[in-house]
Amino acid sequence: MDIQLMVTQALKESLGQATNHNIALVIEKPKNSAFGDYAIPCFTWAKAFKRSPQEIAQQIASSIHHPLFAKVHAVGPYVNVFLDRKRISQELLNQIVLQKGDYGSNNDGENRNVPIDLSGPNIAKPFSMGHLRSTVIGNAIANLAAKNGYRPIRINHLGDWGTQFGKLIVAYLKWGDEEKVRQQPIAELLRLYVKFHEEAEKHPELNEEGRRTFKKLEDGDQQTRELWSWFREESLKEFFRIYHLLDVSFDYLHGEAFYNDKMDEVMEMLTEKGLIEESEGALVVKLDEVDLPPCLIQKSDGATIYATRDLATALYRKRNFDFSRSLYVVGSEQTLHFKQIKQVLRKAGFDWANDMVHIPFGMMLQNGKKMSTRKGRVILLEEVLNQVVDLAYQIINQKNPALENKHEVAKQVGIGAVIFQDLKNFRTNDVDFSFEQMLNFDGETGPYLQYTHARCHSLLRKAGNFVPKTGHSLDEEEAWPIISLLSQFGEVTKQAWEDYDPSKIARYALNLARAFNSYYVKVRILGSEDREARLHLVFSVATVIEECLRILGIKSPKSM
Ligand code: ARG
Repeated sequence: MDIQLMVTQALKESLGQATNHNIALVIEKPKNSAFGDYAIPCFTWAKAFKRSPQEIAQQIASSIHHPLFAKVHAVGPYVNVFLDRKRISQELLNQIVLQKGDYGSNNDGENRNVPIDLSGPNIAKPFSMGHLRSTVIGNAIANLAAKNGYRPIRINHLGDWGTQFGKLIVAYLKWGDEEKVRQQPIAELLRLYVKFHEEAEKHPELNEEGRRTFKKLEDGDQQTRELWSWFREESLKEFFRIYHLLDVSFDYLHGEAFYNDKMDEVMEMLTEKGLIEESEGALVVKLDEVDLPPCLIQKSDGATIYATRDLATALYRKRNFDFSRSLYVVGSEQTLHFKQIKQVLRKAGFDWANDMVHIPFGMMLQNGKKMSTRKGRVILLEEVLNQVVDLAYQIINQKNPALENKHEVAKQVGIGAVIFQDLKNFRTNDVDFSFEQMLNFDGETGPYLQYTHARCHSLLRKAGNFVPKTGHSLDEEEAWPIISLLSQFGEVTKQAWEDYDPSKIARYALNLARAFNSYYVKVRILGSEDREARLHLVFSVATVIEECLRILGIKSPKSM
């Protein structure tokens, strides 16, 4: 239930033919509550009706009858509308306690499949800030899909295939150290990769050896295959430490290698449809008709590439998941790539290519510069995350030294801070990574929301682990901004999903927390006559903030 929507709907019904104006645009919210919850100015209709605005206001006021409204009357050229707050608040509070975490959900998706391509780090390379953003944004969008009745399928499209693996294998066989790979796989593999390129400067024939080795890998040669799969496993172990910290999981780890045996089909299909052309020894699909550069499908040495594998991926996902839409949460630097993929598929006659959506995002900056997770040869991301958790621990330890599970809470707060900082603004904005900002308990932060949620639970605990029953209502002025916000949650989850925009949830949660905190300083809760109803409001705020945080991928400790 969204009060604002219900009011415009009720007014539309009551006014009937009187006006075809867009009521939502006309309605005002009076600053002074003596003039009601809503006011309709009648000036605009004077001309059409050839009557004075005052007369029109009288007429409209007498024609509005709706159970939502306690009182409707004309004051000069305005119609003032007073909501039946008792009735509305009761219905809302009932809904929240009956539905709990399901409050704000809908079944629009009818359980249809939505594959979501997220994270996609590259084997033997550091997990970058871009991959972190993709993981965090993609996970929140997957949660929004589920909240709107879709079935999200989280797919990690690992970068685990390509000529670079031929080079890496050559480098390992020449200069590698098994023990080091086991201890610090990514650092060691990165070292080998860098060394390969240095050596190849001096001995260009190494490149040829790399290509030959990748060819062996593609053809299933046992030794190369074993090394590749070992590198992959060791890298995944490192990546999963990060996924563990973030508490993100995947339905499929189908990386690029998974499509190796599905490439011939793509080549045949494109050839059959007459889409392939030769260009300087390579094979391309020309996309002049939409003003895009040609999509490279096969290199002059016969190897397929990233784009070819994404074509195979799209076909596979359509076939296996029969998706209603297929999402790709990948940085904005790949916008052209996804445009090309979609256009090639359209040209091949696949209308469903229109249901593929690239969801781009901006960069992670630190002090205005692109933030890198590769410093020398050390992997930084895990370190950075652990650093945030340590800082969170120090703050919590200071604020509440007696807290029981401080380490667990510090992890939830620290990781929550990183995630919220990423999600609080529209995703195409760059994010400024700042420890100080993200951990400010009074700022627009994850910890601020978690703290507000914990404050609610502390009240509920003090009230003897209060769990509300149905039937409470609350018509006090101070509670009204909260009631009104709570009523909007369902609309917000819809909008956030339609726009693939988790920041709508983040912003909404901040507004709700602010409204609650100003209520909390103004209104006495535990020792009041209205205790039960007010506690019910507290319970509702806690429930909805927790649900917002869950959607964003953030935990809500009950005390901190
Ligand atoms: N591995 C890629 C990269 O690091 C991201 C993969 C994105 N997904 C896809 N289907 N292309 O840039």
